[in-house]
Amino acid sequence: MEKRVALVTGGLSGIGKGTVLELSKKGYDVVIFDIQDEKADAVIELCKEFKGNVVYKHCDLFKSNEIKEGFDFIQEKFGRLDCAFNNAGFGILSKPFGEVTEKEIDMELGILVKAHMMCMIHELRMMKENGYGRIVNTTSGAGLVSSQGMALYSACKHAISGLTKGVALDYATQNITVNAIAPGTIETELILPYKETKPDEYAMWAKANPSERFGQPYDIARVVVFLFEEDSDFINGTIIPVDSGCVAGTRQ
Ligand SMILES: NC(=O)c1ccc[n+]([C@@H]2O[C@H](COP(=O)([O-])OP(=O)(O)OC[C@H]3O[C@@H](n4cnc5c(N)ncnc54)[C@H](O)[C@@H]3O)[C@@H](O)[C@H]2O)c1
Repeated sequence: MEKRVALVTGGLSGIGKGTVLELSKKGYDVVIFDIQDEKADAVIELCKEFKGNVVYKHCDLFKSNEIKEGFDFIQEKFGRLDCAFNNAGFGILSKPFGEVTEKEIDMELGILVKAHMMCMIHELRMMKENGYGRIVNTTSGAGLVSSQGMALYSACKHAISGLTKGVALDYATQNITVNAIAPGTIETELILPYKETKPDEYAMWAKANPSERFGQPYDIARVVVFLFEEDSDFINGTIIPVDSGCVAGTRQ
């Protein structure tokens, strides 16, 4: 097999960073799109001992011109794109929907939905040319069921579930698969600040997973790597919960 080229959006932190490490271990060349430039050297350094070449491209996913520049960069540097993990996101806004502001709607829709869509358009064009493609999107348990105070986030994540299914069908005959992972509560920079600021909530988040432990980025990364492999080619249009049973039902 030729060396595969993979994109990870939001690859400098949390789930994205964990996935960059796993891909690099497996020998993928990896391009990271992110905005936290100051973290890039450390992530690249961590991957130095592995087979895959990791490069960073500053790309603010709120900006269409930067997204285009990002994909031009991949084309120039590697001449192809085989796999993409659309993962970048931030902030779980927890409040009753009537208190949500227009700015918050624009922010969450912008990063959690529109950025996925814009990236996918570029990814699909490159993968179609390539004759091979694997796309993994990031939804959430909140993209399958909702919960109190989570309407906006949940609406965005449900949008990703629908997008994944629809695009999977569009490209099913073209050796391109599109799936999504729905993480449970994963201990990342998204959650870690709660340890100091809201310790009770932090403890509650861990128990939200039926295993009563936080998931770790590698729990997700290993599934993404599997979905990137040729052997997974009959899995398409699925939303895979990786959550120790969170969306399976309720416990006593
Ligand atoms: N951590 C969890 O428990 C959990 C659960 C379900 C779903 N998710 C989803 O997983 C994804 C990753 O979450 P995480 O916990 O790893 O978060 P994180 O904060 O650790 O990492 C997110 C990354 O996205 C990047 N990013 C943010 N805005 C960006 C922008 N405009 N342009 C480019 N990059 C940008 C950040 O710089 C960061 O590196 C998100 O989509 C999140 O909704 C997380």
